[in-house]
Amino acid sequence: MRKLNSKELREEWIKFYEERGHKNIGAVSLVGDGTTGVLFNVAGMQPLMPYLLGEKHPLGKRLCNVQGCVRTNDIESVGDSSHATFFEMMGSWSLGDYFKEERCKWSYDLFTKVLEIPRDRLATTCFCGDENAPRDTEAAIIKEKVGFKKENIYFLPKSENWWEIESGPCGPDSEYFYITDIPKCSKDCNPSCDCGHFIEIGNDVFMQYEKVDKDKYIPLKHKNVDTGWGFERILAFLNTTDGDIYKTDLYAGGIKILENKLGISYNTNEDIDRSVRIILDHTRTSTMLLGDEKHLVPSNVGAGYILRRLIRRMVRHLRKLQINLNELGELIDLNIDTLKEMYPELHQNSNKIKSVIIEEKDKFEKTLERGEREFNKIVNRMKNEGKDTISGQDLFTLYETYGFPPEVTQDLAREAGLKVDTTEFDKLFKEHQEKS
Ligand code: SER
Repeated sequence: MRKLNSKELREEWIKFYEERGHKNIGAVSLVGDGTTGVLFNVAGMQPLMPYLLGEKHPLGKRLCNVQGCVRTNDIESVGDSSHATFFEMMGSWSLGDYFKEERCKWSYDLFTKVLEIPRDRLATTCFCGDENAPRDTEAAIIKEKVGFKKENIYFLPKSENWWEIESGPCGPDSEYFYITDIPKCSKDCNPSCDCGHFIEIGNDVFMQYEKVDKDKYIPLKHKNVDTGWGFERILAFLNTTDGDIYKTDLYAGGIKILENKLGISYNTNEDIDRSVRIILDHTRTSTMLLGDEKHLVPSNVGAGYILRRLIRRMVRHLRKLQINLNELGELIDLNIDTLKEMYPELHQNSNKIKSVIIEEKDKFEKTLERGEREFNKIVNRMKNEGKDTISGQDLFTLYETYGFPPEVTQDLAREAGLKVDTTEFDKLFKEHQEKS
């Protein structure tokens, strides 16, 4: 495999597509414009909605870029070695131009010839069909013809293999997976399994439909391809033996700072590693959101509330590792430095980014210690009662009185070997928001 660093991988991606007639459209704001029902840009295709629906793009029918994305729906998975709330997606699009033939061949060539990932390490999926779209036998035949191993081509159902957001252009996936050294968990293990044998590294969506309502789809005027490949994950498989994104050059400086402060090396204690990854990811995402052209600030609603949660969770983990919170500025500077070439506005906004994060940290620090004491009381009470799940009401009290976002309590609970009832919390939180 080619040991490309982050800068080289970005360049290779764009070069591959420019050689095939694509125009680089660059990246846009991370914060959603409110038209798609999602708070952040969760995929590279989001800003291209009108063009995927048929409007003519000024730069033509073949486009590419590397776009920053923020996804917080799986925030509790951040802490492992492959998840991040801010990540970059390497994208390319055919707007009513080429379709499955070119797409499958180029994907195979990109993986095996440009990135030099061995054929044996690649698995791919095709849609198995339902009442809205037929089984994608065509893609499977093409994939085998261009070089994918027949036994590594899987057919999966809509729940696993279909791309859509709230509304808009959508369609069946053609996903790609890196096959790791972790053995299959069973003979039926397939790419939808999260045992670690398969890690998703990319997706080409054959976008032929528009979602107009719940379970209601209409055909699009022209067939598009929406390609989005995971920048950090591919970088990790090219450069490490275990695919840990936090071992790539994107996080190397941050790991070094935390190792120095902690006096121990990364990858020697899983509990500490988890906190280290959460700190690095959440600082990076907060930096990106505060430096964004939309000028997001922490608040109690919408995107601003997500930003507040990220900063608070990061502060709790810094405190857990007994890292002096006043040294946070060093980590923020480093993030700005690592990303400023791609996102020059970070540098211009650096003072604001630091002052907002530090102000937010100061506010949360005031209640954090008291909240942790309250949490310990809850744990003692539960132990006496022989319970193992923290109730939604307790989660809500910690949120309302001490400003603990649910994932902060969830982390504390996990460390204490307990579970939490998030369903009841979500209900109470919704009622609270409606009232206020
Ligand atoms: N929209 C698809 C995804 O995010 C492919 O770009 O996976």
